[in-house]
Amino acid sequence: MPPTRTVKDYIRTIVDFPHEGIMFRDVTTLFADPRGFRMAIDQMLNPYAGMEIDMVVGLEARGFILGGAIAHQLSVGFVPVRKKGKLPGAVISEDYQLEYGEAVVEIHDDAIEAGDKVLLVDDLLATGGTAEAGIKLIERLGGEIVGCAFIVDLPELGGRKRIEALGMDVHTLCEFDGA
Ligand code: PRP
Ligand code: MG
Repeated sequence: MPPTRTVKDYIRTIVDFPHEGIMFRDVTTLFADPRGFRMAIDQMLNPYAGMEIDMVVGLEARGFILGGAIAHQLSVGFVPVRKKGKLPGAVISEDYQLEYGEAVVEIHDDAIEAGDKVLLVDDLLATGGTAEAGIKLIERLGGEIVGCAFIVDLPELGGRKRIEALGMDVHTLCEFDGA
């Protein structure tokens, strides 16, 4: 019998994208495979079985793909954290550092009510800057974060430690060496 493929096996690496020296961990090949995608959603949800979750928050852009599927699986609503200027209603914003420069993410200011139990999801944890900005937005609205779930962890970039230092439960499915 051939060995069973793991979630990691479905992720493609593109060398030198978006620029030289970067090994881009491409989850589109995981999302495109029916077994891989289902496996990823199931495994992201595993630690939270039986826990109370009121909504899923996904980080733009790949966190939307996961967050929609996970929210549907849990029969709860989905809330997007978007890059600046995309959400039509009143928003609150958080700045975060990119490799070069700064970026801003936003959430509708009425998307979460105080005490709502939130699961935060994204595809990949690198420096943790994006996730930290998402966490701050959720907490500013009074949301209680039950967990932060990602497919990929890049441990050398320190994101897990950074997010755990905020008191968060971090759940990842696989790791890759290097940035
Ligand atoms: C990537 C990835 C995470 C983030 C992780 O998104 O999808 O959201 O970077 O990096 P960090 O932990 O260092 O913050 P990107 O900003 O490339 O945007 P996209 O998802 O919209 O393509
Ligand atoms: Mg992203």
